[in-house]
Order: sequence, then C-alpha cells, then structure tokens
Amino acid sequence: MRIIRTITEMQKQMQQLKSEGKSIGYVPTMGFLHEGHISLMNRARLENDAVVLSIFVNPLQFGPAEDLDAYPRDFERDHEIAENQGVDYIFYPSVEEMYPDNASVKVSVVDRTNVLCGKSRPGHFDGVATVLIKLFNIILPTRAYFGLKDAQQVAVVDGLIRDFNFPIELIPVETVREEDGLAKSSRNVYLSDDERQQAVELSKSLEMARLAIERGERSPDEVVGMMRHHIKENTTGTVDYVEIYSYPELGEMETLKGKVLIALAVKFSKARLIDNTILEVE
Ligand code: PAJ
Repeated sequence: MRIIRTITEMQKQMQQLKSEGKSIGYVPTMGFLHEGHISLMNRARLENDAVVLSIFVNPLQFGPAEDLDAYPRDFERDHEIAENQGVDYIFYPSVEEMYPDNASVKVSVVDRTNVLCGKSRPGHFDGVATVLIKLFNIILPTRAYFGLKDAQQVAVVDGLIRDFNFPIELIPVETVREEDGLAKSSRNVYLSDDERQQAVELSKSLEMARLAIERGERSPDEVVGMMRHHIKENTTGTVDYVEIYSYPELGEMETLKGKVLIALAVKFSKARLIDNTILEVE
C-alpha cells in the first residue's frame, strides 16, 4: 500500500493505472475510520482492480461554529485499518496542498440543499461539492463509494456527477450500525456514557416510523410528530430536524408514496448525530 501526499504524484499514479486499463474504486473519507468506512472499502475491493482511500478533513465543509479543529483524527490507526482492508493507495493531502491559493471559481449546489443538513448547515454542501470535484479530478475513479448514512450527500453527489459529466459510477452503500442500532459515526466518540445510551432512541424512532407506515400511516406530519415526541421524551438531545422527502429528489410530499427518505438530526452536548432510513411506500 502506498501513502501519497501530493496531487501531482497521485494523478501520475492514477493515470498509469488508467493507461493499463485498470478500474479504480474510490472511497472518500475524513478519516477516523470505523466499520461504516470499512464496508465502503470492502465493496470497492470486491468491484475494482485498485482501491483508493482518501483521508482529508475538508475545512470548506465546516461552518464557523462547527467542529473542524476538534474533528477526531488518528492517521496511524487509519493507516493500519486501510492496510488490513487491502487498500492500494491512501491519498492524504495537507490543507495547503488542496487549497493553496484564494479560489478563482466557487461551487454552489443549488438543488437538493434547501432541506435537511443543507438548511441547518449553510455552505456545507458547497464545500463537499468543491472538494469532491477536486478529488474526482485527482483520483479519476471508475466507481465512487458513498454511505447512505449521509443520504443527502449521496443525492447531491448524484446531481454533481450528472451535471458535470464525471465518467464515474456512484455506488451508494447501506448504513452500518452498532449492535443496538446506533449508526456508526466518527462523531459518536463525543457522546457521554448517558448520551450513548440515549442515542439508540434515534434509530428506534426510525424503526417506529417504518412500522407505522407499514400499518398504513401515510401522513408525513403524523410520522414526524411521533418521531419528534419519541426523541424528546427519551433523550436529552435537541431535535435539529426530523423531515420526510421523496428520494433522491428531496421534494416535499403531502402523502407518503414511492421512495421516501425519513431523516433526523439531533444535537447532544458535544455531538450532532444524523440518521435516516429510505423506504419504498406502496
Ligand atoms: P466521512 O464522514 O468521513 O464519511 C466518509 C464516507 O463514509 C461517506 O460516504 C459516509 O456516508 C460513509 N459513512 C459514514 N458512516 C457510515 C455508516 N455508519 N455506514 C455506512 N457508511 C458510512 O462524508 C464525508 O466524510 C465527507 O463529506 C466527504 C465525502 C469525504 C467529503 O469531504
């Protein structure tokens, strides 16, 4: 496995692989790897000749009051995990390498971002889109792997790949969870013991929503109300949002029908957790 820190070297290596006709499976991350990231790497390993992992905590996607400096980092551990998963290249650039000068072009995501995390984290998806355009051009992937835990991110990347004609196949991967249902996240380390116990109620509220819909509930407002109530009653967290949209368009719906995203974000003392489920409603 090779660790590469410069864009020039990375592009050279990737162009070489391309010229040999090899497929490149790419997993973009911000590091502090867990089983969620590992499932993306495994899938990429199965489907491609070469696997590239990038680790870059992208300052552009953090708001001024967010956790950029405190974001957990452990390159040595990540390195070992990647090695064990059969990753061929880690791209691990510095902030200066990725953003050397003042930008002359700015990217603005105009669709699928006025809801969910796009609404509560203004500019976040512009930062995600900017770094991904750069990373896609550096790594030249055949396939790019993204977790459905960040379902809105998958929807935005889907739009990005289509609008900018990247010859990349987007592969969405199911959310990996702890045994009790909590979605794995690098930010779970910020939870106190108490909060960790309560955090299970987030996935439980999604399960309750699924059951209610299975029993015939078709009103998004009813489902949202029930979930909000459950989270409020059973956790000390503050609900940032509980919302339901069509997927991947992220359009509002009066009656639940077709492919539906039910998503939530809850703030605990030091961590803001997100989770979601995607259902096919008759
Ligand atoms: P990061 O939060 O490190 O996540 C990297 C990838 O892992 C994302 O595609 C995310 O959806 C996926 N992932 C995280 N937790 C998961 C889980 N429990 N199950 C399955 N997949 C999971 O998302 C980012 O980084 C950044 O925004 C990035 C795309 C790298 C751009 O900076």
